[in-house]
Amino acid sequence: MPDKNYKIAPSILSSDFARLGEEVQAADAAGGDWIHVDIMDGHFVPPISFGSPIINAIRPVTSKPLDVHLMVQHPERHLEDCAKSGADILTVHIEASPHLQRNIQMIKDLGCRAGVSLNPATPLSSLDEILPELDLVLIMTVNPGFGGQSYLPSSRRKIARLRQWLDEIGSQAELEVDGGIHAGTAAEVVQAGATVLVAGSAVFNDRGSVAENIKRLHDAVEARSVV
Ligand code: DX5
Ligand code: ZN
Repeated sequence: MPDKNYKIAPSILSSDFARLGEEVQAADAAGGDWIHVDIMDGHFVPPISFGSPIINAIRPVTSKPLDVHLMVQHPERHLEDCAKSGADILTVHIEASPHLQRNIQMIKDLGCRAGVSLNPATPLSSLDEILPELDLVLIMTVNPGFGGQSYLPSSRRKIARLRQWLDEIGSQAELEVDGGIHAGTAAEVVQAGATVLVAGSAVFNDRGSVAENIKRLHDAVEARSVV
């Protein structure tokens, strides 16, 4: 495969939890670049998914970066546990972080890369004071809480505006997108400027094997970039 300008981060939320280790290994072997780990607390978002013990459980199974997405209130209470369990990237929601700069600093002090996520209705302007400090911005392309939802078409403009802003300030931060990414939407988000594509159901719940499903995402992006 030619050098690609984006990464795929399979989300284990859609994997078979009874075979979690094998699912992570399959995503790793199939060329998944990061493993996306969705932590939900039943407050910030309705469901409870799992917590740091799952990070700990999968850490020995892959050497790929563990990309931990904290959909929780009071994320600062969980950062140390997640880092000690083996997280490489810790992303907090701006809507759950009144003291965002402190959280970012805490993540960096723990030796992890620091990300901030924005819900669909949260404006990019809320990043005004913090953007230069970030290693990653996660644009939610669905409302967080559930796998298998439909991509919100309004996301394209938001991704493109953030791409332009990051380029203007010379930021190397990753621009990650999460929610409803599949073969029909992957090319659009890459063209708009996303560099990391989270994919849950498109990797673990689609018709093919994990490897076939990841390849389908790459093929969809390449088909559109040739023209
Ligand atoms: C949703 C989670 C996502 C989820 C994506 O709130 O943050 O990471 O796993 O699932 P799909 O790719 O199925 O939309
Ligand atoms: Zn996520």
